Amino acid sequence: MSKIEITSNIAPFPKPIVLVGSTVNGIPNFVTVAWFNRINGLPNLWAMALGKSKYTLEGITENRTFSVNFPSTDLIEKTDYCGLNSGRKVDKSALFDVFFGELPNAPMIRECPANAECTVFELVDLPKTVLVVGEVKHVYTEERFMTDGALDPAKLDPIIFTRPGNTYRALGPIIGDAWSIGKTL
Ligand SMILES: Cc1cc2nc3c(=O)[nH]c(=O)nc-3n(C[C@H](O)[C@H](O)[C@H](O)COP(=O)(O)O)c2cc1C
Repeated sequence: MSKIEITSNIAPFPKPIVLVGSTVNGIPNFVTVAWFNRINGLPNLWAMALGKSKYTLEGITENRTFSVNFPSTDLIEKTDYCGLNSGRKVDKSALFDVFFGELPNAPMIRECPANAECTVFELVDLPKTVLVVGEVKHVYTEERFMTDGALDPAKLDPIIFTRPGNTYRALGPIIGDAWSIGKTL
């Protein structure tokens, strides 16, 4: 089959959505983020690209801490709301039951099945975004989201963002075991 070339301006979607929390001017603020990934293990480093104008970035730069919250599909409206509205104009703190762990200024969302507290490892200045590299310090969940002592992706029920079309989807079925199914070849 022959290949056709398409625009190079695509992003690696689908991706699970996260809600990143920071304290900005004394108030917890949450931003919807799709450009997010793990980039190193031990230390466990996560990275996200934040537009330079994002209010959240002001709190992260000032406090050097932030949270990453993993919403489930029942939080779809609130998750989208946090991506539609800037904390510069609306107070997003009242949307959620906010709690804190060990790090001050890293507000977390109790309704999200999993939450992580991070410290800033590095801020990388890119043309339109700042790449925020965070070191994961503490992770929280509830027993009901775990199976055999580990987070269970099916129980987390993540919101998956897909493009083109800008749509949210739920997690699909398991189709194979990683580091395993390839051994059949
Ligand atoms: C599905 C979705 C994904 C988004 N992903 C990102 C992202 O990865 N990085 C980013 O800077 N903004 C992203 N945004 C936009 C911000 O969430 C949005 O501009 C938000 O209002 C900024 O809030 P703040 O100014 O309070 O920080 C996304 C929005 C949506 C709806």
